[in-house]
Amino acid sequence: MNILQDRFGRSIDYLRLSVTDRCDLRCSYCIPKGFKDFEEPENWLTFDEIERVVAAFARLGTRRVRLTGGEPLLRRNLPQLAARLSALPGLEDLSLSTNATQLARHAVALQAAGVKRVNVSLDSLRRECVNSITGRDSLPQVMAGLQAARAAGLAPIKINMVAMKDVNETDIETMVAFCIENGFILRLIEAMPMGESGRNTGFLDLQPVLEQLRQRFGLLPQHSELGGGPARYWRSVDGSFTLGLITPISQHFCASCNRVRLSVDGTLYMCLGQEERFELRPLLRAGISDEQLEMAIRSAIELKPERHEFREKPGKLIRIMSMTGG
Ligand code: GTP
Ligand code: 5AD
Ligand code: SF4
Repeated sequence: MNILQDRFGRSIDYLRLSVTDRCDLRCSYCIPKGFKDFEEPENWLTFDEIERVVAAFARLGTRRVRLTGGEPLLRRNLPQLAARLSALPGLEDLSLSTNATQLARHAVALQAAGVKRVNVSLDSLRRECVNSITGRDSLPQVMAGLQAARAAGLAPIKINMVAMKDVNETDIETMVAFCIENGFILRLIEAMPMGESGRNTGFLDLQPVLEQLRQRFGLLPQHSELGGGPARYWRSVDGSFTLGLITPISQHFCASCNRVRLSVDGTLYMCLGQEERFELRPLLRAGISDEQLEMAIRSAIELKPERHEFREKPGKLIRIMSMTGG
């Protein structure tokens, strides 16, 4: 098989699939206050179109697909789409990134549909802090969602905590204890300056945080695969705690990038932090053949840039996070 390779020799085998750009929350680093410019439903790829594109990616060597948003569980009948995707030959890892507000209702159906694991956004265990970051009193629902995911056998469960200066940096300790208690993997994430909302988020350099946690837990680097993403992992000596760090700003990981993103309107985005893109929807709706679709995907991959420039040009990217799903 001709596995997808970009101009820099990177193999692309991970597709992030955004099924909606809408969300029931308004995290301060993600969707700006008052933002209303969401995609019109007639421009959303249908489940048939999504399945067709993912099948083409799978034929080109994609092994992992992650369902993202906005909030993916807002897309009606998502478990039905998951079942169709997990049945595609070649796909080994179907996962979901969610804010978990609706997860309690869907966890069992998602697991039955072939979703293996979930990553859940949670930035604090203080109700008022979650309220102020997400714009809603969402913590009780998120907790219920997490318990339901665990009961349904979705594993591992990773907690995505965007660590922000003067917002939730002092919550890291309680988040560590919570994750140890529940067997969750804690991932600390540096905020990226996506759009105006991401730019106005207090940046917290995670390297000193890692040093402190390392001293406290005697963390050892873990090299075994815990996902297909950019996190680097450490494990406490007693094995009770796994920490992941996602450091796009202080130590970027673009040299090993393995992914592209398909947004709800059928745009392939080549890099989270750059503008290079390829519109698939007009081609799909013009009735192109499977071979032409594969060729289109190959030419899109040619556009993939070497790296993001969040650090050098923090004001560059206008696109907000929920358009491409992280
Ligand atoms: P795993 O398959 O579990 O490794 O998932 P993941 O970490 O790739 O996905 P998730 O949706 O949980 O994303 C966690 C964080 O990583 C979010 O803040 C994403 O924006 C960020 N992220 C994921 N992929 C990339 C990437 O290619 N570049 C950058 N800069 N950030 C990324
Ligand atoms: N910077 C870093 N991570 C972000 N996420 C959303 N916006 C940003 C940002 N500006 C994270 C969410 C979610 C994941 C998919 O992306 O916390 O867990
Ligand atoms: Fe929604 Fe996720 Fe953005 Fe929060 S980070 S507003 S949960 S899309």
